[in-house]
Amino acid sequence: MNADYLELTNLTVSFDGFVAVDRVNMSVLPGDLRFLIGPNGAGKTTLIDAVSGLVPATGSARWAGEDLVGRKVHRIARLGVGRTFQTATVFEELTVTQNLDIAAGARRGVLTLARRRTRVPEVVVKAMETIGLTDLAEVPAGTLSHGQKQWLEIGMLLVQDARLLMLDEPVAGMSAEEKDETGRLLRRIAADADLTVVVVEHDMDFMRAFATSVTVLHAGKVLAEGSVEQVQADPRVQEVYLGPGEHSKAVTEAVLGEGV
Ligand SMILES: Nc1ncnc2c1ncn2[C@@H]1O[C@H](COP(=O)(O)OP(=O)(O)OP(=O)(O)O)[C@@H](O)[C@H]1O
Ligand SMILES: [Mg+2]
Repeated sequence: MNADYLELTNLTVSFDGFVAVDRVNMSVLPGDLRFLIGPNGAGKTTLIDAVSGLVPATGSARWAGEDLVGRKVHRIARLGVGRTFQTATVFEELTVTQNLDIAAGARRGVLTLARRRTRVPEVVVKAMETIGLTDLAEVPAGTLSHGQKQWLEIGMLLVQDARLLMLDEPVAGMSAEEKDETGRLLRRIAADADLTVVVVEHDMDFMRAFATSVTVLHAGKVLAEGSVEQVQADPRVQEVYLGPGEHSKAVTEAVLGEGV
């Protein structure tokens, strides 16, 4: 097993006195497919922003033997931490291969990138297979479907040698087939490649189908953590999703699944 795991201790992010992430403790092991769920504004995106160095935080975020809190974004990326954003950020005019090649180059450094290469690097070929876009290697990324763009972004993290992947709502706007494909891709990445994966999602069906563990955030705090069954059965979780007393059992089931 790869020795790296993510351990957040009292991770806190404040914006002008407003506490968006409030003393969060959370550990994620390699091979885990951890879903981070919670209502709008719970602090999910801010938490992964803090781990990737995009917003200042206090407390600690230990990864690969280092505390990421206070480190610069590029330093954190070099430690193998990668994340995607709620909107895709691929280069639309460039092909799938070129997007992956540039991402791999960002890791290699400017000198190697400046050298003209005729062969596609092995790491790019491998990532393309993992994300299932080999047949579309030479098409411009702009012509890919929404789902395929998300997979390309994941591929771009893989060629950068990311071992901690944090994905912000990867299946939002995807077709049912694409969601399924994405779930299988994430499983391959987590279980087979032994990477550490944190998925922020609102899609509860997707969570139920693929999560190996779940952390529920509410108002910046960890409200519950455990297996899908455990968090679904937690009355506090049902309450934050639905508000006290105002919803029927039918509505609860629509959000959290049957048998709650
Ligand atoms: N840069 C910022 N400045 C001030 N407040 C912010 C900033 N970024 C986020 N917030 C606030 O922090 C809280 C958490 O936001 P965040 O985007 O992390 O929520 P989220 O759980 O990702 O929600 P969603 O599911 O809607 O994406 C919100 O109240 C938001 O308005
Ligand atoms: Mg968000």
